[in-house]
Amino acid sequence: TCGDEERISEEMEELLKTLPMEKLPEGIDLYFYEGHWYPSMFIHCIIPFQQQFKAQDTDLILVSFPKSGTTWLKALAFAIANLNNYPLNESPLLATNPHVLVPFLSDAFYGKNPFLKLEDFPSPRILATHVPHSALPTSIKDSDCRVVYLCRNPLDQFISFSHFACKLSNRPFDPSFIEESFDMFCRGVSAYGPFWDHVLEYWKASRERPGKVLFLKYEDMKEDPISHLKVLAKFMGLPFSVEEESQGVIEEVLKLCSFDNLKDLEVNKNEKNRMGHPYSVFFRKGEVGDWANYLTPSMVERMNKLMEEKFAGSGLDF
Ligand code: A3P
Repeated sequence: TCGDEERISEEMEELLKTLPMEKLPEGIDLYFYEGHWYPSMFIHCIIPFQQQFKAQDTDLILVSFPKSGTTWLKALAFAIANLNNYPLNESPLLATNPHVLVPFLSDAFYGKNPFLKLEDFPSPRILATHVPHSALPTSIKDSDCRVVYLCRNPLDQFISFSHFACKLSNRPFDPSFIEESFDMFCRGVSAYGPFWDHVLEYWKASRERPGKVLFLKYEDMKEDPISHLKVLAKFMGLPFSVEEESQGVIEEVLKLCSFDNLKDLEVNKNEKNRMGHPYSVFFRKGEVGDWANYLTPSMVERMNKLMEEKFAGSGLDF
């Protein structure tokens, strides 16, 4: 479990022994807790997060299914929130990875000596998580804080995750892993999966409380980034002004946060996070449809059928 044993409480150690566990061939262990599969390095954070996190009404919580464009969303939300604090050509995004500027909430609940001290984090806070809606702390659901949810076509998400997991586990990407982990994905066994439950829970929440939960898809953002940036800014309570629009601020924000720009920044090319993972792992291809280079027609058919079945009647499709 990533050498974190000393961080785990005895109570958690006892709980872990009772939870179903599966190993992804890419080198990540998943534990099944209350209906969802959590990666071993984050299972320890879930209970303290649920019990201790106190949302503030002004918080913005970015939620995503892993590998759905979290890094991009973090950059965009940070840029929007700080438009009046820094000129875009002096943005902290140019020298700091988006995961540092918009940290994961798990960092605040990571063992006895967490990386993130929430009490020191300036308000209004922008924070992130991959935790499913049903597992969010009640304080998030009860407060007035806003949630932005981002997901992605499961075929691309799956391929992106497979590469990412290999990099995190320091093993070369091996296409032969895919067969087994694809089968696991389709059985619901994937980080924070089942995929469809994660997506459907937030979809439902976004329809029930549209002012509180914004639902986004990576592919839609790629296709029409300008409209989606406007929607995001409006949802954040920070709509672009007519002057900003006419001055091309939307395009500038998109350029700053683009895959090509972020990927080539010194920090994202050469620096590492506190876990020792290079930031470059968050930037691979940044394209829609890369699954076609890896998956067989029968895998694609299986996934498409499964998605049709799971999303039937929801008004949502992939
Ligand atoms: P690929 O592996 O398909 O390239 P996350 O940020 O949730 O970990 O998701 C990572 C995925 O988003 C990767 O997809 C990565 O390349 C892509 N990505 C990272 N930064 C991006 C950006 N600024 N714009 C679009 N996609 C980006």
